[in-house]
Amino acid sequence: MIETVATTPFDDQKPGTSGLRKKVPHFQQPNYAQNFIQSIFDAVERPEEAVLVIGGDGRFFNREVIQLAIRMAAANGYGRVVVGQNGILSTPAASNLIRTRKASGGIVLSASHNPGGPKGDFGIKYNIANGGPAPEGVTEAIYRRSKELSAYRISQAAAPDLSVLGESRIEGMVVEVIDPVADYLALMETLFDLDRIKAHLAAGFTMRFDAMHAVTGPYAKAIFEGRLGAPAGTVINGTPLEDFGGGHPDPNAVYAAELISELMQADGPDFGAASDGDGDRNLIVGRGVVVSPSDSLAIIAANAHLAPGYAGGIAGIARSMPTSQAADRVAAKRGLAMFETPTGWKFFGNLLDAGKVTICGEESSGTGSDHVREKDGVWAVLMWLNILAVRGESVREIVESHWREFGRTYYQRHDYEEIDKRAADGLMASLRDRLASMAGQRFGTLVVSEADDFSYKDPVDGSISTSQGVRIVFSGGSRVVFRLSGTGTKGATLRVYLEVFESNPERHARAPEEALAELIATADVIGEISRRTGRAAPDVIT
Ligand code: G1P
Ligand code: ZN
Repeated sequence: MIETVATTPFDDQKPGTSGLRKKVPHFQQPNYAQNFIQSIFDAVERPEEAVLVIGGDGRFFNREVIQLAIRMAAANGYGRVVVGQNGILSTPAASNLIRTRKASGGIVLSASHNPGGPKGDFGIKYNIANGGPAPEGVTEAIYRRSKELSAYRISQAAAPDLSVLGESRIEGMVVEVIDPVADYLALMETLFDLDRIKAHLAAGFTMRFDAMHAVTGPYAKAIFEGRLGAPAGTVINGTPLEDFGGGHPDPNAVYAAELISELMQADGPDFGAASDGDGDRNLIVGRGVVVSPSDSLAIIAANAHLAPGYAGGIAGIARSMPTSQAADRVAAKRGLAMFETPTGWKFFGNLLDAGKVTICGEESSGTGSDHVREKDGVWAVLMWLNILAVRGESVREIVESHWREFGRTYYQRHDYEEIDKRAADGLMASLRDRLASMAGQRFGTLVVSEADDFSYKDPVDGSISTSQGVRIVFSGGSRVVFRLSGTGTKGATLRVYLEVFESNPERHARAPEEALAELIATADVIGEISRRTGRAAPDVIT
């Protein structure tokens, strides 16, 4: 039986960079999740009897919300939901399923790399029929609907047992529980020379993959240890836990420190990698070298043709605005189209759908291609393994030869977390006020050549996104970008992105903090960071 339940709207269900994210207790308020799911179902376009993909990263509260989403889909006219066993799907695997099952969309339950558990973060994200995150027009429509909602519809029947593969029904709707890994692995087979990677591993190449107790555990075990034959133990922290073992499932130098320190040993593995809570981010490490995500994007773009799925070459590259310009240098040399988009994977969707770009990336450890419409952690690892197997060189050799050919872009991102929201808004407003007078100003040896607040006109649908971050460019190409995070759940997070280009190979061995020192000091002067936030140093440097 279908029940219509009266409810009152919440005023804070505006999706951010990547869906609606709140602390678990916030999501546990009566009707909070129901309201948002009903707003999605009311706002999105879908045919009668549409197919909906549902999955999540397995974090705390995932199970409850999956059940709700299934019972509500059954009451809202869906014909079929496709759901991962035990409610598990990595974000890229969900994107793939939406595409292959011709679903009208998908609900992905995740707060990505944010910590989980009863006091941790939770999130609900809607993806559209192309498999990608809903664009702003759709998220705005969901938000509008959430502000006027007066009832939601839900089946009173229990959702089926999600541990059992196969089909069952609730109301008239089919619930299909699938193996979360199978379709994804089949897609990877079409893109990469897995047999060649397997042979490379068999010949003594060693690797370690840290799944951070998050969703990629089962994918990594099936692919790296199963299909590619790497020894048991190659995948560490491979069992997904509701609280990620108390850790912070973000694959960066801070939270994947153990993996990185193993790779820094002279007798460490040849290759190390990690992924985040929902499997869309990646960290790439070679023995003695951590590859910065912006460099990884550039190196992948320059070498993708070595993987069978990209042997015909790539159409173009897109990067988010704060991502370093290393990829632009590959595009310029190779005559490829290059696009600069606002932060967030959703801005790549139109470019990928239109065939304008093949490879996309963000400085925040996100890399991917036109194979799905999300960034994809395991894909990035397989791409690197394919490149390594074909070139037969070490990660360090590949990185250093890339710098010799294209120059090195020194890069860091400094995050100031949970700062006072008013202070953060004031800092950004003050920067914006001073933009017009900034060109020509000198700070030490640095002279501002351009300063603006990034806005983007989508070349495919003409939509415009404004206020996407303050860019200050100095003569010579060094750059600092200021923006506020759109994924935080407490206070504000200020992100300061710093980059310096160095063409001279004799100056490529410097530490980033040394190469960036003057720019870091200048960013504090221009942004008045310490004065306005009361912080002497960033919380996280990536
Ligand atoms: C952050 C990253 C951004 C990424 C998003 C979702 O968003 O900076 O690149 O797309 O997470 O993973 P932000 O918190 O900066 O808005
Ligand atoms: Zn993620």
